[in-house]
Amino acid sequence: MRLFFTTLLFLVSHAIAEDGSQGWLRYAPVPNAPGPESVPSAIIALNATQSSPVFTAGEELQRGIEGILGKRLHLSATAGQSHSAIVVGTVDAYTNAYGDLKEAEDLETDGFFLSATLDKVVIVGQNERGALYGAFEYLSQLAQNNVTCEPLVYNPQAPIRWTNEWDNMDGSIERGYAGPSLFFRDGFVVDNTTRVAEYARLLASIRINGMIVNNVNANATLLSDRNVEGLGRLADAMRPYGVQLGISLNFASPNQTLGTFDPLDPKVDAWWANITNQIYNKVPDMAGYLVKANSEGQPGPLTYNRTLSDGANMFARAVNPHGGVVMFRAFVYDNHISPVNWTNDRANAQLEFFQHLDGNFDDNVVVQIKFGPIDFQVREPASPLFGSLRNTSTAIEVQITPEYLGQNCHLVYLAPQWKEILEFDMRSDNHSSKVKDIITGERFKRPLGGYAGVSGVGSNTTWLGSHIAMSNLYAFGRLAWDASLGSEAILQDWIRLTFGSNQDVLDTITDMSMKSWPAYENYSGNLGVQTLTDILYTHFGPNPASQDNNGWGQWTRADNVSIGMDRTVKNGTGNAGQYPPEIAQIYENLEQTPDNLLLWFHHVPYTQRLKSGKTVIQHFYDAHYEGAATAQTFVKQWKSLEGKIDKERFEHVLFRQTFQAGHSLVWRDSINQFYHNLSAIPDEAKRVGNHPYRIEAESMSLDGYKPYAVNPFHTASGYAAIVTTSNTTIGIATANVTFTTGMYDVAVNYYDLIGGKAKYQLEIGNRTVGRWTGDLEDKLGHAPSIYLDGHSATRITFQGVEVSQGERVRITGQADGIEPAPIDYISFLPPGIVD
Ligand SMILES: *[C@@H]1O[C@H](CO)[C@@H](O)[C@H](O)[C@H]1NC(C)=O
Ligand SMILES: *[C@@H]1O[C@H](CO)[C@@H](O)[C@H](O)[C@H]1NC(C)=O
Ligand SMILES: *[C@@H]1O[C@H](CO)[C@@H](O)[C@H](O)[C@H]1NC(C)=O
Ligand SMILES: *[C@@H]1O[C@H](CO)[C@@H](O)[C@H](O)[C@H]1NC(C)=O
Ligand SMILES: *[C@@H]1O[C@H](CO)[C@@H](O)[C@H](O)[C@H]1NC(C)=O
Ligand SMILES: *[C@@H]1O[C@H](CO)[C@@H](O)[C@H](O)[C@H]1NC(C)=O
Ligand SMILES: *[C@@H]1O[C@H](CO)[C@@H](O)[C@H](O)[C@H]1NC(C)=O
Ligand SMILES: *[C@@H]1O[C@H](CO)[C@@H](O)[C@H](O)[C@H]1NC(C)=O
Ligand SMILES: *[C@@H]1O[C@H](CO)[C@@H](O)[C@H](O)[C@H]1NC(C)=O
Ligand SMILES: *[C@@H]1O[C@H](CO)[C@@H](O)[C@H](O)[C@H]1NC(C)=O
Ligand SMILES: *[C@@H]1O[C@H](CO)[C@@H](O)[C@H](O)[C@H]1NC(C)=O
Ligand SMILES: *[C@@H]1O[C@H](CO)[C@@H](O)[C@H](O)[C@H]1NC(C)=O
Repeated sequence: MRLFFTTLLFLVSHAIAEDGSQGWLRYAPVPNAPGPESVPSAIIALNATQSSPVFTAGEELQRGIEGILGKRLHLSATAGQSHSAIVVGTVDAYTNAYGDLKEAEDLETDGFFLSATLDKVVIVGQNERGALYGAFEYLSQLAQNNVTCEPLVYNPQAPIRWTNEWDNMDGSIERGYAGPSLFFRDGFVVDNTTRVAEYARLLASIRINGMIVNNVNANATLLSDRNVEGLGRLADAMRPYGVQLGISLNFASPNQTLGTFDPLDPKVDAWWANITNQIYNKVPDMAGYLVKANSEGQPGPLTYNRTLSDGANMFARAVNPHGGVVMFRAFVYDNHISPVNWTNDRANAQLEFFQHLDGNFDDNVVVQIKFGPIDFQVREPASPLFGSLRNTSTAIEVQITPEYLGQNCHLVYLAPQWKEILEFDMRSDNHSSKVKDIITGERFKRPLGGYAGVSGVGSNTTWLGSHIAMSNLYAFGRLAWDASLGSEAILQDWIRLTFGSNQDVLDTITDMSMKSWPAYENYSGNLGVQTLTDILYTHFGPNPASQDNNGWGQWTRADNVSIGMDRTVKNGTGNAGQYPPEIAQIYENLEQTPDNLLLWFHHVPYTQRLKSGKTVIQHFYDAHYEGAATAQTFVKQWKSLEGKIDKERFEHVLFRQTFQAGHSLVWRDSINQFYHNLSAIPDEAKRVGNHPYRIEAESMSLDGYKPYAVNPFHTASGYAAIVTTSNTTIGIATANVTFTTGMYDVAVNYYDLIGGKAKYQLEIGNRTVGRWTGDLEDKLGHAPSIYLDGHSATRITFQGVEVSQGERVRITGQADGIEPAPIDYISFLPPGIVD
């Protein structure tokens, strides 16, 4: 049974700016909210110690209820009369004060019990952290005007629910798109930990219990006395939220003092034991270590011909006396494999490196496995390693920061992708072996396991650079606690908490978000061929050729007749055979492999028919048109919410959706031109290479501008653009409008590089249609480019422009710095046309 309140609350306009800093914990007044009489009149938090999560829970309840219901409750730490009170505490504290609680015996570590009636609310955690989780759960229900009346026990499915922050000591963040680090600056831990505490608060509300604060590409300088002291301060800031601090280690750290880092050398062992003790002096509750070894140039045990388990166990011995855990990454591969050898395959590396070590890892080691065998691509099968480590605890690693999925400048709600992997059944020993049950430890009866999410939060008030991307952080925590939740249900909780409960807002953001991953897949890489971004540079825009002919092993094997990695056992790399037999049989077999992984496992002609009946190449063309068309609709959908969302966040998201709409066309045309050029197979619908609404810049009459052959060629319409003749020149490009007189959306595709802020002006006839500056590098936060390419290519659109046939169109570009005011083309789009 659930209570729905209808009492109308007088809506006080709340003064907080919607800058995103509160994330989903805004505690905004709820329309039709229950009256203040719907909650008890006092809060009793059964711990008076400020660093206790129970103390935090009391303060959070007071703050939240005041925001949501406009009522400030009395808060005390004394176990008084529990009638008409919200009581929050641990099982022990609660039973001491009020006697036995029968549900207590069902509680597991970090779990809680919540019972909410009008005059009495009981929130009891198995531990202090659990009590705080219960307080956040109650507040979430209040904020959504949907309080559960039945008493319920909530337990986590996995013990390890951590974020991984890829923050560097200099304050930069690897794959972060939201400003500098919260934790480090100029080589040291920051002094001001205010935002660290605010971040821990957000994480606690989604029941994240650990945070690795520095990059897996770690620097030994983290272990200096000054920085260890600093780690103590970070942990102090996080402790009231029950979030334990952990750190990434550089395997070679002792090398400077000892001249060796051999894990079997007793001196090295003693060195790690000592430094570990020093750290635990400052951070008594440190969660543990994360280690990236022998991967992408990082040092590791293989340098000394020791095994990866020898390396992991060295750290395990050091943290074991303190109850710490070692997360050891399975992301070990050779990034110099030869593409000439048809059977070489980076996707095979994890199993080759780890399977024979199964059973050799100490009990407090968890092998942390990226969800797929390569690297967070738009689509990958689940890593076969999940199915083959039976005597090793494992965790899944996902990226909340979408390195390969639009870098928070494209809307991509990731929970559906994660769910697909979590629900995937490996069929180990022909038994149900879902990834979600393997990583919790349930399937193979392991003591540890769980989730690691690479977060990417930075100093920007939006945390991730985009308000709408926060659904991914929220969903990560929710799934790590309970992987059986649906991605849409999680999303809707987040929408209500973040944007309020207006039905149009809920429906629209739900629709956009649920369409977003399929749309991105459609206009990036299809059929399991990977994202097709530039893997050698920014990982942002299109560049399929960058995948092949290098040692990184993210090959597509595309030539002029065929495409895809042959991962079969019978004629390919054998990767399909790394899966348990029932799954191997599916992936080995072309007919049984699902279309969306066809090119992951098979090398086929472009003319190969899919289950849909289309050829591979026609599917590419069609999917790219469909995906980009969907991205255009997001702009209209978002605009329909004007006035229903505060202006600050409305404008911020609109800007990004408009960018995505333009950049999705860059993706569409680039990938289609590339494969059209390579295969020489025409598009049945005659769209590819045929753009009747465009005026190519290089065909205009140029003064101070010159044509420029863009590289990669397919990232320019007609393979060419124009640039100013020097960086001090003002360029002018003119043409006559040959389109019939009427109303058009006029779009200009140009390139926005970092290293300059060119200025542009568009005139038609004698009217100025618009002026703009090439300054997206200040506004978007994705990895920038210094070239004319698929990363810098973008579009600006002027809507509803009256144009007469025969009028002159003129663009004036003023170069700046290294940005030569580059222009690709102008589109005159009649109503309803996207091109
Ligand atoms: C109160 O919180 C402190 C700090 O977390 C903890 O050490 C102590 O055990 C708690 N006391 C009780 C009675 O739970
Ligand atoms: C209220 O919450 C319950 C449990 O989370 C959910 O099943 C139900 O759909 C929610 N109701 C509304 C109106 O959101
Ligand atoms: C610490 O950072 C917070 C949040 O960024 C800021 O509001 C506060 O003024 C800073 N405190 C000091 C002492 O600089
Ligand atoms: C570690 O940090 C120091 C000091 O900032 C820097 O000189 C050094 O290059 C860094 N080493 C690595 C491996 O990043
Ligand atoms: C370890 O130190 C030696 C010098 O003592 C140096 O040559 C070597 O490059 C170092 N190795 C690493 C991985 O830092
Ligand atoms: C232990 O580590 C501390 C701090 O890094 C250092 O000062 C001390 O010399 C080390 N002791 C030993 C025995 O290595
Ligand atoms: C590495 O170790 C293996 C067995 O553990 C041994 O067969 C091999 O000879 C060693 N190689 C070197 C270079 O020491
Ligand atoms: C090709 O690579 C496979 C393993 O990836 C290896 O077994 C085989 O010897 C290689 N073939 C050649 C000709 O190098
Ligand atoms: C946040 O980032 C956006 C660009 O992503 C930028 O426009 C804004 O100024 C940043 N705000 C802060 C407070 O850093
Ligand atoms: C088998 O592999 C070879 C490369 O070794 C490739 O050229 C050929 O097309 C493959 N045959 C089939 C049927 O996939
Ligand atoms: C535009 O048309 C005029 C005549 O109407 C012609 O003189 C001029 O060269 C044309 N300009 C371009 C750029 O084609
Ligand atoms: C032109 O480029 C040079 C070298 O990149 C730079 O020093 C100069 O400031 C630029 N001039 C202008 C006007 O941007």
